[in-house]
Parts: sequence; structure tokens; C-alpha cells
Amino acid sequence: MDAFLINGGKPLRGEVRIHGSKNASLPLMAAALLTDGPVTLRDVPDLADIRNMTRLLDSLGQSIEPQGEALTITTRDAGKTLAHYDIVRTMRAGICVLGPLLAAHGSAKVSMPGGCAIGDRPVDLHLRGLRALGAEIHLDAGYIVAEAPGGRLRGAHVFLGGPNGSTVLGTANVLSAAVLAAGTTVIESAACEPEVEDLARLLNAMGARVAGAGSPVITVEGVDRLRAAEHTVIPDRIEAGTYVMAAAITNGDVVLHNFPTSTLTAALDRLREIGVTLEAVGASEPAGAAPHGAQSVRVVTPRRLHPVQVVTQPHPGFPTDLQAQIMALLTLADGNAIITEKIFPDRFLHVAELLRMGADITRVGSSAMITGVRELVGAPVMASDLRASAGLVLAGLAARGQTQVNRVYHLDRGYERMELTLQQLGADIERVEV
Ligand code: EPZ
Repeated sequence: MDAFLINGGKPLRGEVRIHGSKNASLPLMAAALLTDGPVTLRDVPDLADIRNMTRLLDSLGQSIEPQGEALTITTRDAGKTLAHYDIVRTMRAGICVLGPLLAAHGSAKVSMPGGCAIGDRPVDLHLRGLRALGAEIHLDAGYIVAEAPGGRLRGAHVFLGGPNGSTVLGTANVLSAAVLAAGTTVIESAACEPEVEDLARLLNAMGARVAGAGSPVITVEGVDRLRAAEHTVIPDRIEAGTYVMAAAITNGDVVLHNFPTSTLTAALDRLREIGVTLEAVGASEPAGAAPHGAQSVRVVTPRRLHPVQVVTQPHPGFPTDLQAQIMALLTLADGNAIITEKIFPDRFLHVAELLRMGADITRVGSSAMITGVRELVGAPVMASDLRASAGLVLAGLAARGQTQVNRVYHLDRGYERMELTLQQLGADIERVEV
């Protein structure tokens, strides 16, 4: 198993380009099941989760041809509708194929995703939404077995609100199913995340008629078929936020290219309050080089960090996927900070590990109070989820002495060659086999 060895204390300096978004790419790839024609996706990151989705699509009769950072997905063998447990258990986003399979073939059998380190992750809202479109669904030996009576779903009003807000992948599933349904679908309390908006952009390029994505009400006029399309994936806002915080925690000076400022407003607001300076640099990039309003941004941080209050919320609120990273940053702030987790109330696996590095954190229910300390001290640490691991890497970059972050396969699910990016910025970090 690989680990990172980090000798902390080096300010990061240099330039990095943000990759295409993992969480946008996964439902976009699944949406290719809605057509036989080739779907080309540009700027897909090279990550373990993307490779798992590639395996899943291959098992569903799709041919996936990589060309540099682009993937072209074409139907090789239509009619395969079984998403096997062996693949879905490696990646919860495997559930994204349910809506497209049901819409395209009238039936699907998809393994229920398993447990997850960040808390219970039910799929009841996905199923409720698909049932509202007429699907008959039952569970059989760990599989979701779904059927559209007469082979086609029907447009309907669908409400996707749950106890912790809407559902991102649930919205993607229902939206992808509705595009081929007969009649009009209105999805209320839809997730407003930019990844849902990006999916709607691809679906419309394929000939779908989707309006309102990015807002809580999405309207879909069903069409009979979809066609081939090409699409550039939005930049990864979570990777971008992670590298801003890596620069900040090391008092660095870093320029980030392909930076999705407009999708990170809540996180940037908290970072400015902490004292981090972000300024746009350079002229706009040539047309086509900076999709979706991405910019180049310079991050500079003062020595003293102010403590702030952070509450994770659905978009456009502060993203849960940056909670562990900002906690690492706040361990070095000058006073008491509070983080409240409102999406996954138990997503605090990093707390015990940060304590091992000398942080002062008290968890009470879904909140954590962080009292800033003068320094963190390197230690062997381990986390069992992707973003918690990213928080620990950030802590290691700032800590005195050596930090060993174990089980970096979690990081490899969401950050493309993180150690190379950080080395390029001057960090003392290497990947070792332990
Ligand atoms: C997506 O997961 C992301 N994954 C997660 O990123 C992210 O943390 C999450 O959205 C929230 O932003 C991908 O895009 C692949 P949800 P998703 O359904 O869609 C509850 C990462 O680190 N809920 O929006 O599965 C749920 O328990 C990953 O990159 C139900 O109650 O999350 C949670 O409290 C981790 N019933 C809330 O909704 C349901 O049927 C939001 O979850 C579905 C969800």
C-alpha cells in the first residue's frame, strides 16, 4: 500500500493547472449510455474513480477510447443492463448508471452501493424520483431492479428534498432518466451544484431539452432520442479549493490556472475572512482555453490566520468536500474556530488524526471547535476517506518534522498525482510503498 512521506514547513511557490472535475465527469460518463453515438468528454481527470467508471461502462457494452485528457464513449454492445456489485462496491458513483440505463433500455439491475466511511449514504431519494417517473423498483439480493412499464418512463413532478437538503447524484440520476421520458418532468428541490449544471449542458448538447439546471427547479421536456456530442468538463472546484488551502497553510504564493472562481464563492469568502488574498492574474486566456469562466488566480497568505465559523451546506454554501481541508488550516489560526457539518454529520474522521499531530479540536455532535495551536508536529496518520486524507496532507505540509499519510489510495480516487503537483510547488513529499 502506498503512503506519502512529507517533510513539512516549506512554503509552496509556483503555478498549477486545475484538472477537470471528478464529480462532474462521473455522471457525464454515465450519460453516454443514453445514446449509441460517440460522446467525447474533454479534460477528464486521470483518477481511480474514473477508471472504475470506465470498467463499469465497459461491462455495460460501451467502448471507451482515451486520447490524452479526452475520452470517447461509443456503444459496442447495446442491451447490457446489469451493473455488477464487484464494480459498484468500489465506487458509490456507480449508482449514476441507474437513470440512464432505465431511460435508454426500459430496465436496469444495479447493485446497491455499499457503506461509506463518511456516514450513511442512502439512495432512497434516487429511487423515489425514478418511481415518480413511473419506474417499478424492487430490491433483490443487494440489487436495485427497475423497470419502466411499456419500456418508457413518463414525465412527472418529482420532489428531491431530503433531511440534509437535495441529493447531487440523485438529481443527476432523475435528470438523466427524464430526458428520454414521455412528456414534461419538473424536478423540485433539485441539487444546484455546478456538476448538475454541467450534466445538463452535455444532455442539451446531445439534443435533450433541459432548463433551469443550477437552480432548485429543473424542467425537462422529454425527447425520443439523443445524439452524439462533445463536451469539456468543468474545472474541479474541490481540487482548486484544496490547493488554495495548501498554499495558505504553508504561507505560500501560488498561481492556480483553470480556477473556477464562480463555483467557489462560499469557500473563497471564508478564506478571505481567514486572511488569504486571492487576486485574478493575467489577461483572459484565449477563447476555448478557459471554459466556463475559469480564471488564473494568485493566492498569497499572511503569517497570522484569523479563526472563522464554517457551516457546510448544499451549493452555493460551503462544500462538505472542503471541510477537512479548512479544518487543517484552522488548526493554525489565531483563536477559536467552529465548523458545523450539515451534509454528512459524521464526516469527522480526520479529527482524531489531526489530534495526533498536536491540533486542539473538540467535537460536539456535528460541530467541531478548533483552538488554534502554534504548530503542528509530524506523525504517522491514516484516514479512511478521500477528503479527510487531503486534510491530513495539508496538515503534513505545515507540520514540523515528518508526516506519513497512509492509505493514499483514498487520495488517488480524487486528486490526480497530488504528490507530483505538490513537488512542482516545492513541497518535500514523496510516495513510498509500505
Ligand atoms: C456527491 O455525493 C459527491 N459525490 C460527494 O463527493 C459530495 O460529498 C456530496 O455529493 C455532497 O456534496 C459525487 O459527486 C460522486 P448527496 P452524493 O446525495 O450525491 C442525503 C467526494 O469526496 N441523501 O448529495 O452521493 C445524504 O445522506 C464525494 O468527492 C439521502 O438522504 O451525495 C446526505 O446527507 C464524497 N437520500 C445528503 O443527502 C438519498 O437518496 C447529500 O448527499 C441521497 C442522499
